[in-house]
Amino acid sequence: MEKLVSLCKRRGFMFQSSEIYGGLNGFWDYGPLGVELKRNVKESWWRDMVTGHDELAVYPGAPSEYEMAGLDCTIIMHPQVWKCSGHYDLFHDFMVDCRETRKRYRHDQVRGRWVSAKGQRIFVTTMAEVAAEEEDVQRRALKFFNIRAKDADQLKWDGGFANLTSVDDFGAVLAPDAGQLGTLTEPREFNLMFKTFVGALSGEDGAAYLRPETAQGIFVNFKNVVDSTRVKLPLGIAQIGKSFRNEITPRNFTFRSREFEQMEIEFFCHPNASGDWYRYWRDRRMAWYTSLGLSGQRLRLREHDPDELSHYSTGTADIEYAFPFLPAGEFGELEGIAHRGDFDLRSHMEGKLDENSNPLQVQLGEDGKPKYRGSGKDLSYRDELTNERFVPHVIEPSTGADRATLAFLCEAYTEDEAPDDKGDMQTRVVMRLHPRLAPIKAAVLPLVKKDGMPELAKDIYRALKQRFNVFYDEKGAIGRRYRRQDEAGTPYCITVDTDSLADNTVTLRDRDTLEQIRVKVDDVVNEIQTRLH
Ligand code: GAP
Repeated sequence: MEKLVSLCKRRGFMFQSSEIYGGLNGFWDYGPLGVELKRNVKESWWRDMVTGHDELAVYPGAPSEYEMAGLDCTIIMHPQVWKCSGHYDLFHDFMVDCRETRKRYRHDQVRGRWVSAKGQRIFVTTMAEVAAEEEDVQRRALKFFNIRAKDADQLKWDGGFANLTSVDDFGAVLAPDAGQLGTLTEPREFNLMFKTFVGALSGEDGAAYLRPETAQGIFVNFKNVVDSTRVKLPLGIAQIGKSFRNEITPRNFTFRSREFEQMEIEFFCHPNASGDWYRYWRDRRMAWYTSLGLSGQRLRLREHDPDELSHYSTGTADIEYAFPFLPAGEFGELEGIAHRGDFDLRSHMEGKLDENSNPLQVQLGEDGKPKYRGSGKDLSYRDELTNERFVPHVIEPSTGADRATLAFLCEAYTEDEAPDDKGDMQTRVVMRLHPRLAPIKAAVLPLVKKDGMPELAKDIYRALKQRFNVFYDEKGAIGRRYRRQDEAGTPYCITVDTDSLADNTVTLRDRDTLEQIRVKVDDVVNEIQTRLH
């Protein structure tokens, strides 16, 4: 992971936000290569899910044909949206505060190990990355017990790493940055929504929130989309956009950020078909990642156990990826696919539903009235063929553009061997990004900066540039230029050499196989086009 992070910075994929001021934890900027990569991730998703969708076809595994439409909603919405969605009351994590250092941690993210020495047993915690946590707890335990490194065998470790959530006795906990025992508070709830104020009003009257998910914009526009277009159910409405969560401990690069982009679909269908649609979307979304190069070994689909599901849901699955910053054998969530029943549309109609009631009832306040009033608008749908009116059920495939980009970067990072300019084998770093995702599709390289080679290379560059993001480079030894493109993930290099001027052909080098073939100059654009799809 460290190598990837350093490559991302060195080659301009990603930078810490406001880095010259020391950075801001949980916020990331995309550099010139990163912005292209992330745009390609989002455009591939939009193309594959929305604009490229064939509404006349029945896709494998789908119960019928269906329609897709897009939306782009505001980040700040009416505050009632978040009351009815449940985010106002329920969107929180548990945090613990350290009374000694005044630092705050997410309860379920603090890890540590039990250790005994000098007749005392304590739980030493750490927030270090997985690769460094063993060393960190040892260093901290030695310091706490005042034992020298050469006498480390006096420390008696009891079991492997465990989560702070497994510890009841906080008096025995050495907090991640503290010198004393028992400095952590009991876990407390912390709402993750960023609060802001709209207009000149201050205080609760003007309070609003930055959206923590794009999904609610889709629910509250469901009626607008159905009424303003001729779309019919089954219907998916898609949105890509920024979301904000005031994560207590953002970490692992962009995996958990405070500002990030989501790519969400709310798929509205008849309740009787919702189970089949859930299975369709679960499998369709899994196939999307493999089609763009995530390998079967690092990617898995995990169905939630029945006891993890809300009673109104018939299924939820996570698509998970074995990110390299996780402990061996652990996977992190890339996307969730949830069967949400009619919970969201009814909450926005009738008032926030009580998720524990069965059948679902509006949650009441102490005065016996709805705790949060809904819009009162009818969000049901009438099927024109059967004349049946019903509140649609929803399947929600929801992923993060940044998290998906990170998974593609992790998967792409490879070290192998390739010959240098003298033919000697050298280790090379290559980003094996899928050609659809690669920031630069091809680089055009004159072998030397003379003899008419740059002129021909520039003509080829200009012809390609009209269709693809290509790069022209005439500086440095050819081997070094190839390496730079390998690190950027550029799938093809086109080299103009002495033969090119005689026979009007160029060399096309494949990043992954290192195969080099000759292609006619007039065929270069078509050749790249064919290879990219
Ligand atoms: N509307 C459902 C929803 O928002 P979620 O599981 O909270 O569900 C969906 O988020 C996806 O959004 C996650 O699978 C992840 O890819 C991305 N995501 C969530 N929180 C994130 C964060 N703090 N940083 C980066 N991506 C995040």
